[in-house]
Amino acid sequence: MPLSPTLALVTGGTSGLGLATAGRLLSSGTVPILFGRSKERGLAAQEHLGGGAVFVQGDVADELDVTRALDAGAQRGELRVVVNCAGTAHAARVVNRSGPHALKDFVAVVTSNLIGTFNVVRLAAERMAALEPVTGERGVIVNTASIAAFDGQVGQAAYAAAKAGVAGMTLPLARDLAGLLIRVVTVAPGLFDTPAAEGLPAETRTALEAQVPHPRRWGRPDEFAELVGQIIGNRMLNGETIRLDGGLRMPAR
Ligand SMILES: NC(=O)c1ccc[n+]([C@@H]2O[C@H](COP(=O)([O-])OP(=O)(O)OC[C@H]3O[C@@H](n4cnc5c(N)ncnc54)[C@H](O)[C@@H]3O)[C@@H](O)[C@H]2O)c1
Repeated sequence: MPLSPTLALVTGGTSGLGLATAGRLLSSGTVPILFGRSKERGLAAQEHLGGGAVFVQGDVADELDVTRALDAGAQRGELRVVVNCAGTAHAARVVNRSGPHALKDFVAVVTSNLIGTFNVVRLAAERMAALEPVTGERGVIVNTASIAAFDGQVGQAAYAAAKAGVAGMTLPLARDLAGLLIRVVTVAPGLFDTPAAEGLPAETRTALEAQVPHPRRWGRPDEFAELVGQIIGNRMLNGETIRLDGGLRMPAR
């Protein structure tokens, strides 16, 4: 692996895909900074990882919060990897029984998934730009979209718009940052078994799983983390959104 980072910022590293990624990074010798909104989840995640991680509470869409997380990292070493996993799902039809889709909900979903991701990218990339290149690169940024970016279902207008934004900005971000020797790659997961999916009724979970061609099951968070590791290690991966979905193409509903 060309880049062997000592430190990585993992937004949403306090649960699910982010926590699995943080665990994998830690086991390969990288200290993860877990950045998330919930203090309770953050402290639990730190304990789960055996104390090797640093938790910083904050919102990805808040400039000061992200700056605090980057400052916490700067005290511990060179930040060469950022994995953006923070995000929130939302389901509501554009017109429903109680009226039109609440605009504030649309704004909240776009803010946490898209604006938050961009906010972290811009602030982290500025810090990376000040580092000396190591074996030809300064750093790697991995963002998380969703297959909803391409196959948005009924009720997913806000979430699909936000994730399509994350996928859509991948190439221009990679082009913008190429001169600084920073790569940007996005992962678009299908169904992954995380706390975000735990609230679904058992029959819904089974019905969703039945739509995955192969392997016919929910993805495991460590399989997402494995891909992140491969992205960090493979220097030809850049400017691309990679579906990680067992061949799933979501139907309209
Ligand atoms: N689990 C899946 O099946 C699936 C599928 C496609 C995409 N995704 C995406 O993967 C990412 C991780 O999802 P997950 O399933 O692990 O969910 P999760 O809810 O377990 O983890 C998301 C974490 O992000 C944090 N977070 C949310 N908004 C934040 C904000 N504004 N600032 C800081 N932290 C914030 C939450 O507190 C939570 O700890 C999300 O972006 C999600 O949209 C998940």
